[in-house]
This record gives sequence, structure tokens and C-alpha cells, in this order.
Amino acid sequence: MTARIIDGKAAAATLRTEVAVEVARFTAATGRAPGLAVVLVGEDPASAVYVRNKGIATREAGMLSFEHKLDAETTSQADLLALVDRLNADPAVDGILVQLPLPPQMDADAILTRIDPDKDVDGFHPVNAGRLATGLPGFVPCTPYGCLLLLRAELGNLSGKSAVVIGRSNIVGKPMAMLLLADSCTVTIAHSRTKDLPAVVRQADIVVAAVGRAEMVKGDWLKPGAIVIDVGINRVPASEPGKTRLVGDVDFASASQVASAITPVPGGVGPMTIACLIRNTLVSAARRENFKLENPL
Ligand code: GUN
Repeated sequence: MTARIIDGKAAAATLRTEVAVEVARFTAATGRAPGLAVVLVGEDPASAVYVRNKGIATREAGMLSFEHKLDAETTSQADLLALVDRLNADPAVDGILVQLPLPPQMDADAILTRIDPDKDVDGFHPVNAGRLATGLPGFVPCTPYGCLLLLRAELGNLSGKSAVVIGRSNIVGKPMAMLLLADSCTVTIAHSRTKDLPAVVRQADIVVAAVGRAEMVKGDWLKPGAIVIDVGINRVPASEPGKTRLVGDVDFASASQVASAITPVPGGVGPMTIACLIRNTLVSAARRENFKLENPL
């Protein structure tokens, strides 16, 4: 079997266009555009690229982007908490995102829990984790929500499917498992201590790999016809000396011979994360203004 390649770039472009249509309706009705504040502390080059791309996507959707770039040396934890307080109180700000990782002298948990849960478009606040676990409306972390949208587009109804999530992080693994459970999958969360991981993965109709280990999941771990969502982004040496390339947590060459559909890296899950961020920002603005979305996205 040769797997269909799930085009996350195309799915993300469609979602971004749908968000932009609703943003235009929102802005016409309320007299203001939705606003997303993004906070970057320090000079981490990968974070700087993410933040720039988030700003571009926000503006392209017709929303306002408020970017706060702070110096890692001169910004204290108290300064950052004070900025979060200001953004919480600012009526033009519908969504707040503090880019991770933060510099080591900062307590990321203290900062993330200071964000108003009703502006927490990253879905990282424990209140939003609790809402997701109990089925209340809140904000769902963008990467797992993007994975869910790709799976729904592929399968329609997920009910009764057996799903294995590899990885138990608060940002991807745990919320992914909760989303699959809410869509009536039978869910297993596997992790570094799981015994006989290949045998566990071989049970699954749906495999979501989010462990951060390059090309760990092999084709012979998969049930024939499984759908594979690869969240990994790992930089490895390329064949040309001195060059690197990006690979996922799944060994694409072997897995694509066994799966029925698979996301590539890059161009799979990655583009969906930013699309879901602007979707969450629109949802936040709509809730705050009591504005009814025609397309619930
Ligand atoms: N760093 C890498 N991915 C993310 C993300 O989705 N949100 C935030 N806040 N930081 C990140």
C-alpha cells in the first residue's frame, strides 16, 4: 500500500480563508477587528521565526497583531507578569500568546497561569485543560486541534476508532488524547515507559506521534491501512556535509508503504497550528462580543 499524503498546507490555507471571511463579518458588525498579542522574550531563532509567521497569518486574516519583543537579560519575571496583566485588561486584545520556551530564569507555569483563561488562545492554562477534560467550552491547544481537523477531514466520523497517541506532554499528547476521546475513539496514551511500543501501535487505526525522536515509528509498527499524524519536527544531518534537514517522529519512507494516509514533515501538521491559532483568536473575539459565527470552524 502507498499512503495518501495528507496536505496540511492546503487544509491550513482553507481554514485561514474561512477565518478571514468570519473576521470580516465580525469587524463589520462590531466596528473593531479581533486582536492577538504575541509576547517573545529573548532571541531564540526558531521562536523568532514562529512569532513572525504568527504575525503574518494574523494580519492576513484581517486581525490586529500586537507584538511585544522583550530582552531576555533586562526583563524580570515581574515585568513579564505586569505585561500579561496589562494585556488581560486591554479590551482590544482577544488572545494572548507567550512564546515558549521562556528563558530559564522565568517560571513559565507562573506566567501561563497569569493569562486570563478566556484570552488563552494557546489553551495552555490549567482552567482550559480542565474544560477540555470535562467537555466545557474553552480553548484547545492549537497543534492537537489541527491534528483533529486533519483526522476528521480524512475519516469523517472518528467514532469507535482505536487511537494511539505517542507522547504525554501537556501541549500535545494529553490534549490530543482528550480530543480523540471526545470524538469517541478508544484512546491509548503511550510514552517512554510503555512496554512493547510497536505492539501497542500496531493495534491502532489512528497513530499520532508526538515524542520528539527522529523517525522513531517504523512502517512495521503500523496496522496496514492506519492513518498516521506526525507531530515531530526534528533537525538531523543531511547527506551533504554541513547541511541539515527536517524529519518527523515517523520514518516516512517505511510508514508510507503501510499506512493508508500520512502527514509529511514539513507540510503536514505544522501549518495547521498557526491556522488554529487565528481560529482560536476569532472564537475568543466572538465570545467576548457575543457575536454569532456563521461558520463555527
Ligand atoms: N513554542 C512552540 N510551539 C508553541 C506554541 O504552540 N505556543 C507557544 N506559546 N509557544 C510555542
